[in-house]
Amino acid sequence: MSKILLTGGAGYIGSHTAVTLLKEGYDVVIADNLSNSDKQAVSNIEKIAGKSVGFYEIDLCDRDKTFDMFKKENFDAVIHFAGYKAVGESVAKPCMYYRNNIDITLTVLEAMAEYGVKRIIFSSSATVYGPLNPIPYVETMKTGDCTNPYGTTKFMIEKILTDVAAVNPDMSVVLLRYFNPIGADPSGLIGEKPQGIPNNLMPYITQTAKGIREKVTVFGNDYPTVDGSGVRDYIHVVDLAEGHAAALKYAFNNAGVEAINLGSGRGTSVLELINAFERVNNIKVPHVIGPRRDGDIAEFYADATKAKKLLNWETKLSVDDMCRDSWNFEKNQK
Ligand code: NAD
Ligand code: UD1
Repeated sequence: MSKILLTGGAGYIGSHTAVTLLKEGYDVVIADNLSNSDKQAVSNIEKIAGKSVGFYEIDLCDRDKTFDMFKKENFDAVIHFAGYKAVGESVAKPCMYYRNNIDITLTVLEAMAEYGVKRIIFSSSATVYGPLNPIPYVETMKTGDCTNPYGTTKFMIEKILTDVAAVNPDMSVVLLRYFNPIGADPSGLIGEKPQGIPNNLMPYITQTAKGIREKVTVFGNDYPTVDGSGVRDYIHVVDLAEGHAAALKYAFNNAGVEAINLGSGRGTSVLELINAFERVNNIKVPHVIGPRRDGDIAEFYADATKAKKLLNWETKLSVDDMCRDSWNFEKNQK
């Protein structure tokens, strides 16, 4: 069976993708420096899937260690999750973000060239569409007016991958533009574990429900949306993982570069998400209305038709499933 490298595979999205790929029969190798994850995730992946994974605890900016791993493993494809992802931190520490996210990518691409690996799936983000495009976001829209260094790394890496593919016509590059991943594996063994105070909405909700935070602040209720609060396209991380399996299949059969949205195509407001969470889990989430957050936009969601057409993939799980599984994971945390 094909052997797939998951850079950053011990993290939130990578760990769920590892489970899906193992269940589909792939051999999976994870390379991660555990800067935003822990080793327990690797054993939990094995527990859920009932199969073992290869694991390298390395910094993927380390050329020698990365090349050694490629030499040893003979990969058929790479799914490239590794990188830093906190928007606010990227504004405060731009060099750290550009160095890590770009450096890892270049090192991995050079190793792929050296060892003849022709397929790469990249974790991009809806953030590349910037604040100016109309919704829903379509892959053909102009990208790049990103509002923070994190987003700019995604735009830059998309460009680097596109340039590399242009001179390697037998290469396959899939740029997956994720919308807002939430939820967790139903086992409750893997999920999102933000360090410190969460920036994103769902971990803030789960920590408030648990009593770790006092209340959720709804960032604005005066947007031109269904109820005035911000609207996003939430996607269950298990659906997202299946999107990677579909992209991998595509990459094995097609050369060239494709950017593909992974979203549901439906928007949910902050208040709708909080209400769904309370209803599904029968628990109160204290919340107050606060001012808008700087840099936020009112509403965005995916045009999800390309993923359906090219990958034969679409989301199956609902907002209720996301609320149930996010809470199930949080409850399991010490
Ligand atoms: P995560 O932080 O949980 O996982 C990323 C992993 O990369 C971590 O385990 C971290 O330890 C590892 N890593 C970072 N720098 C490394 C280095 N130099 N060498 C080796 N490993 C390194 O993040 P996630 O939520 O699983 O996101 C995965 C990818 O998807 C990221 O590239 C992220 O930017 C992108 N993405 C995430 C979201 C989201 O909402 N979670 C949305 C859009 C895009
Ligand atoms: C953020 C990032 C984006 C990243 C995405 C990953 C910014 C500007 N963008 O997007 O680059 O890809 O996370 O999931 O940070 N909200 C509240 N209260 C809170 C937290 C959030 O009301 O305590 C609202 C926000 O205003 C927004 C919605 O909830 O309307 C979702 O916010 P969040 O989870 O942070 O995601 P995004 O802002 O969409």
